[in-house]
Amino acid sequence: MEKLWGGRFQKNTSSLMEDFNSSIEFDSKLYEYDILGSIAHASMLGKVGIISKDEAKEIVKALKEIKLDIESGNVEFKTEHEDIHMNIEVLLTEKIGDTGKKLHTARSRNDQVALDVRMYARDQVEEIIGLLKEWLETLIEISEKNIDVIMPGYTHLQRAQAILFSHNIMAYAQMAKRDIERLKSWLSIHNVLPLGSGALSGTTFPIDRQMIANMLGFDQICMNSIDGVSDRDFIIDFLGNASVGMMHLSRMCEELIIWSSQEFHFVEMDDQYSTGSSMMPQKKNPDAAELVRGKTARVYGDLINILTLMKGLPLAYNKDMQEDKECLFDGAETWIKCIKIMIPMVKTMKICDKNMENAAKGGFTNATDFADYLVKKGMAFRDAHKVTGEIVHYCIEKNINIEDVDIDKFKEFNSIIEEDLYDFIDIKNCCELRNSIGGTSSNQVLKSIEEMKKYIEKI
Ligand code: ARG
Repeated sequence: MEKLWGGRFQKNTSSLMEDFNSSIEFDSKLYEYDILGSIAHASMLGKVGIISKDEAKEIVKALKEIKLDIESGNVEFKTEHEDIHMNIEVLLTEKIGDTGKKLHTARSRNDQVALDVRMYARDQVEEIIGLLKEWLETLIEISEKNIDVIMPGYTHLQRAQAILFSHNIMAYAQMAKRDIERLKSWLSIHNVLPLGSGALSGTTFPIDRQMIANMLGFDQICMNSIDGVSDRDFIIDFLGNASVGMMHLSRMCEELIIWSSQEFHFVEMDDQYSTGSSMMPQKKNPDAAELVRGKTARVYGDLINILTLMKGLPLAYNKDMQEDKECLFDGAETWIKCIKIMIPMVKTMKICDKNMENAAKGGFTNATDFADYLVKKGMAFRDAHKVTGEIVHYCIEKNINIEDVDIDKFKEFNSIIEEDLYDFIDIKNCCELRNSIGGTSSNQVLKSIEEMKKYIEKI
């Protein structure tokens, strides 16, 4: 079979090379974007008179048929046609003969592939923004449902202070909001049309790039043809955003895995999102959460892949760049799959509120409150810290909580301590009195939920 570029060659490509060179195995995924781009290109060629209007119409009609043929499974892509771009061009020429050969006027595969991949990435970004919105709604839903549940908050994974479970969950909502904002900023930076850059230096034909940008929904046109064909920042930024987004999911999964352990028993994953052991009959493992944590590693790998691919490439296009696709596809598909499993996994998990509350009562999570009480009675914070530390030490020795100490004993430590202390260090009050902006009181958490709801409406 003669190659589309075969004119200057005397020998056939070796079959080993054909296999090695071909990308159709993975870039066939781009068929839809390739056809959309070609339809816009052909329409533009017809409009400005580079080809006739009838020719443009014939090409567009045939391209639409090819799309249907592909979707109904009637097309077999061929390795010898290298990639999706040439496979479709060959199909076109098979369908309409010589007119099909005119499609590639004023275009190179270099600007064509840059266009296709960018449109693919843009669609993924839009889909992920939608999924993250659903994720935010899920986080809000479980926060609202469990608004009063108290749990220990941790630093160094040591019990630190009592917090509302909903406050902890809404922390992940803040992360998801930033993930959405990053993707929106991706759109404002990268929704730029590369087509019309030619092989690297533009074209001698009087093309209308604005028309193509309008047809394909691009906000801007790239203003340097060399950059147009060689820029893959849009993949790097996408995978950078994916890595951060996955890291957020992974951190939550890590918490859920710990909380699912019998030692914590703060949550129970629904059977639907857990699996068992082939050997140990009693086991129920939080596999979905573990897999999200695990898949985070592969998305980081995808990012390192594209960064390393690009670091040594001279301008403009180099064939190395054919390797830009699988990491993008993998990163996008993995991120999407992970958000999709997180939503029902979190929605269906059982919140063991009593266990959380009991844990919050232990571990002296109200020690800071005790010190704050002393400050409010006039003591300097550093002194209050010391007195509280001594009381904590006394309680550890006696194996009791602070609130179990009776008032006479407290007075031995310091006479300013009075009966009102007990209310002040009650676990519920410990949360409710933290009413500073962004604090863990239900008042503040409800405010943050309201704000998040307003944000969601504007996405
Ligand atoms: N399959 C190629 C890629 O994915 C398309 C561009 C090829 N361009 C070229 N001049 N060989 O990058």
